[in-house]
Amino acid sequence: MRAVVITGTSTGIGRASALALDEMGMHVYAGVRRPEDGDALRSSGSRRLTPVIIDVTDTASIRAARDLVAERVGDAGLTGLVNNAGTTVPCPAAYLPLDVFRRQLEINLTGHLAVIQAFLPLLRAAHGRIVNVSSVGGRVGAPLMACYAAAKHGLEGLSDSLRLELGPLGVHVAVIEPGFIASAMPGKLERDADAWLRQLPQEGRDTYGRQLAAIAAKVGKEATTGSPPDVVAGAVVHALTSSRPRVRYPVGAGAKRLLTLHRVLADRWMDRIIGHATGYSMKP
Ligand SMILES: NC(=O)c1ccc[n+]([C@@H]2O[C@H](COP(=O)([O-])OP(=O)(O)OC[C@H]3O[C@@H](n4cnc5c(N)ncnc54)[C@H](OP(=O)(O)O)[C@@H]3O)[C@@H](O)[C@H]2O)c1
Repeated sequence: MRAVVITGTSTGIGRASALALDEMGMHVYAGVRRPEDGDALRSSGSRRLTPVIIDVTDTASIRAARDLVAERVGDAGLTGLVNNAGTTVPCPAAYLPLDVFRRQLEINLTGHLAVIQAFLPLLRAAHGRIVNVSSVGGRVGAPLMACYAAAKHGLEGLSDSLRLELGPLGVHVAVIEPGFIASAMPGKLERDADAWLRQLPQEGRDTYGRQLAAIAAKVGKEATTGSPPDVVAGAVVHALTSSRPRVRYPVGAGAKRLLTLHRVLADRWMDRIIGHATGYSMKP
């Protein structure tokens, strides 16, 4: 039985991926932070699907999940690990509290490495695969999204190093780079942007208020017009099961176009495109 661990399966891409892999007959260990999210997921999947409590910032929960999975899979090891958990904080870098920045790096970057380290012996035993869910934001920065850009750029670099280190040991590492996806995330970002706006001092509101509201509105719109999470789940399935897995999977609305432009255009042109796309344009 092929066994896979996925983090962040309560909603969105993680949930869609867990259910897609479950439907293919894999034994999915679905990471959630709350038992009730595990119950909800289980009611949509097969009896095989096993929710496990994983908070990627909590070493004890990672260790407990690893022990449970290790006991269940035995010598067969683990076929795949999908590092999907993620959050985003929309705030001008100038006003970003450093503890918030550190927490973002912990969830979106360091936590993934913690999970990878914990499950690596099981992955090596099965010549399994690691799939890291990054973002187009891991290659292209966006204004007022410094936390996210820093963490996701870091995840891209971490994935490149891991691929080179682990490839010779039989463990393939792939990166998924979603564009605009209609998950819970855009709604959370829109809500959080509003909260951040109210927290800013008057000077910050005067300088960034309009742009923060514009970006929140733009992202909020993507919640309805973006690609469904199933599209990303398809890429996750390919990365885990194809005989020729790719290294990078740009997927979903806007991803390929944006990354192609990023590759061929000068930075200044890219800045204009990002400024236009996010509604963020400000005379110096
Ligand atoms: N939506 C997009 O447009 C988009 C675009 C590019 C990349 N992505 C990436 O795709 C991944 C999934 O995002 P999504 O769009 O599916 O958003 P989502 O619906 O908000 O899902 C995020 C998941 O991460 C979990 N999570 C948050 N903090 C966690 C922690 N400390 N430990 C473990 N799990 C945690 C959440 O669990 P709780 O319910 O417990 O909070 C939730 O299950 C993220 O890495 C995101 O950066 C999304």
